[in-house]
Amino acid sequence: MCVQAAPSRTAPLRQSVKRTLAAGQGLLSVALAKAANRHGAITALARISSLFRHDGRIKRPSGTIPADAFSYLTNNNERLRDLRLRYQGHPACNHSQWSPASVMHGIDMRYFRADNMYLYQSRRYSPLSFYATSAFTKQVDRHGLIDLLVEDDYFGAEVFDFHGKAVSRDLLDSVLESNILSRFLPLDARPISILDIGSGYGRLAHRMTMAFAKLQYYCVDAIPESTFISEYYLKFRRADRCTCVPLDEITKTPLRGIDLAVNIHSFPECQSSAIAWWLDQLKLMAVPWLFVGVAKSLGLTSRERDGRRQDFLGRIEQAGYRIKAIVSKFEGAPVLQKEGLYPTDYYLFRQSLV
Ligand SMILES: C[S@@+](CC[C@H](N)C(=O)[O-])C[C@H]1O[C@@H](n2cnc3c(N)ncnc32)[C@H](O)[C@@H]1O
Repeated sequence: MCVQAAPSRTAPLRQSVKRTLAAGQGLLSVALAKAANRHGAITALARISSLFRHDGRIKRPSGTIPADAFSYLTNNNERLRDLRLRYQGHPACNHSQWSPASVMHGIDMRYFRADNMYLYQSRRYSPLSFYATSAFTKQVDRHGLIDLLVEDDYFGAEVFDFHGKAVSRDLLDSVLESNILSRFLPLDARPISILDIGSGYGRLAHRMTMAFAKLQYYCVDAIPESTFISEYYLKFRRADRCTCVPLDEITKTPLRGIDLAVNIHSFPECQSSAIAWWLDQLKLMAVPWLFVGVAKSLGLTSRERDGRRQDFLGRIEQAGYRIKAIVSKFEGAPVLQKEGLYPTDYYLFRQSLV
């Protein structure tokens, strides 16, 4: 199917896209078109990447911050200091990318939804990429979540106007991930418990529990700041079916009855020893399904302390999991698989030992 940009109204995103489209002559149609129609057009578009990508500039965060966030989300908050102490020396805290220094520099705790280590946004992707990704999401969204779920500019999220609908990478990724998962698991039909490992500020927890009324959602993370922020954020969003579990409690009081573990863009930022530790926990908890999202460019590779990458598919298999499906974020839209907003492959595994 070929999606055309609707007539431009006044919103900044559409104006920017209109300018870009004028330069690129129907690029959006090319991005979303079926392969048979696309091939000739793509080969003629030598500069397509430059229209979808930015030069790495990070915007100064802006947006709405609730008054209590200024006093609560601080470095010397007692809860955060306690979590830091409790996580010290834990086997999952053998960090490569998420060292305390990089967290300190990379994340402004009040603007945790800004373009940062949790979610890259406009530093890498142009308005055209956001627009094309929104159009793609609208096409494949079988549950109508893009209309149901609401976006705002709280905590620095970069928000774009898509024909009157506020969208962001937070919203678009969550809608796409929910739709992919719902192909395999009856998310809206029966109570399902999800454990999100490396759940960040609680993006997917918030979105999925707003989308599916029967889900129970548990967040766990090996970075104290992530646990601290997600505790605050999920309470702020009144996401009552979400529980943040501090890392040390996962082993003290193992969770029972988890149906699905998810790990989105987290294992590729961990050392293989930390991944192995998490997989042992999933085996102990007898979690039947595992869903792993990785940047297309990284695949199932860990990041070791010296920067080397190591394949971790073998470790997943050793823990008894077998691949059931691999789904690309931009399935059926090859140009977006290269140029869309953070191209990702999702691997769904099924535990074979239970
Ligand atoms: C790129 S962020 C993705 C966050 C979230 N999954 C999302 O998609 O919005 C990577 C996440 O991995 C977490 N993380 C880093 N090292 C970890 C480890 N060793 N074990 C578990 N989580 C880790 C970080 O705290 C962060 O929440």
